[in-house]
Amino acid sequence: MARSGMPRRWAFVCLNERDASHPRGSCAGRGAAGVFEALREETGRQGLTDVKVVAAGCLEACMVGPVVYVAPDDVWYGGVTLEDVEGLVREHLDGGTPVEPLRIGREEFELSPLAGRDQLPLGVIPPVQP
Ligand code: FES
Repeated sequence: MARSGMPRRWAFVCLNERDASHPRGSCAGRGAAGVFEALREETGRQGLTDVKVVAAGCLEACMVGPVVYVAPDDVWYGGVTLEDVEGLVREHLDGGTPVEPLRIGREEFELSPLAGRDQLPLGVIPPVQP
């Protein structure tokens, strides 16, 4: 499909980077740069010229990064890994169906050791890399 006019969807990928010692960590520390590049490559590979993958600053769900926000569907994803990219592009960015296991919501936004709430969901969020 030729690219023209307003994109059908945007995927905003947090690329914020903090020092590894920061209590909230950061999406960059959890591999967001690789996820961003993979999303760009995969949308191109699937021919989605009407989907934009955009670099973003902190989206405030730092504890469960890498965080991706998809508009205009108003869907948030956390803990996105390289293995998730192909399905996320095919199922949601193209197909319009959110990938439920990756979705995050208000609870994840409220996680923060700075606020005394740091119970991460088990087994789904990549650790911060030093
Ligand atoms: S560092 Fe990515 S959401 Fe804050």
